[in-house]
Amino acid sequence: MILISHRGASGYAPENTKRAFEVALEMGCLNFEFDVQMTKDGKLIAHHDYNLKRTAGLDLSLKDLTFDELKKINIARYFNSLPECPPLIEEILDIIGTRADLINFEIKNDGGIYPGIGEKTLDVIKRRKIMDRSLISSFHYPTVLKIRSLDKEVRMGYLIHGLKSAFLGSAIKEAKKINAESFHMNRKVASAGNIKRIHKEELAAYIYTVNSAEEARKLEAAGADGIFTNFPDLMEKG
Ligand code: G3P
Repeated sequence: MILISHRGASGYAPENTKRAFEVALEMGCLNFEFDVQMTKDGKLIAHHDYNLKRTAGLDLSLKDLTFDELKKINIARYFNSLPECPPLIEEILDIIGTRADLINFEIKNDGGIYPGIGEKTLDVIKRRKIMDRSLISSFHYPTVLKIRSLDKEVRMGYLIHGLKSAFLGSAIKEAKKINAESFHMNRKVASAGNIKRIHKEELAAYIYTVNSAEEARKLEAAGADGIFTNFPDLMEKG
């Protein structure tokens, strides 16, 4: 089972910041996940929420700010650490790109608020020649459908929230339609039975977000192929 640092080592450093990825690397973690959003001037940056309320204490939406404006905003405020601004995804790739085994680009595009974000992400992956280690996912199904229509080769993960076991079959069908290699689901529905059904369709099962060693071990025993965790050293801590 692989451990994927969720928004970087976000249990130890402010999430989705350069520091969070440096810390993950320092811990020997080579699998990474970050959230991709787009600024007003079309730059791809990493940040989870669509606004800056939780991270910076500011009632502002990312889509309304240019990258130059964002650079002046401290999104580490919530973490009580040294100031950090939202990085360009390319700045994260400068840190992890050559060393990473797996880079999960989770594209945030609810309601299609960022037209063209999928194409732009794909362009970055191709330009940096990291197709082999990049895995795209999004809660917004039209975004991943569009990316698959543009590129037959890019690696895809099928990401879903609010899944109920009764609907696992139709979710798996959606995953197959985009030729996903992995199925990313919440820990609450990650039973051994559901993981078995996912494996039957030749999909890997990646579970989010798992922050206790005890739960990680249970999921490993249940057959999970990977977990997203804020603590990449989880297993060593016991
Ligand atoms: O991509 C896996 C996991 O990060 C999905 O949940 O809310 O952290 O984007 P969220």
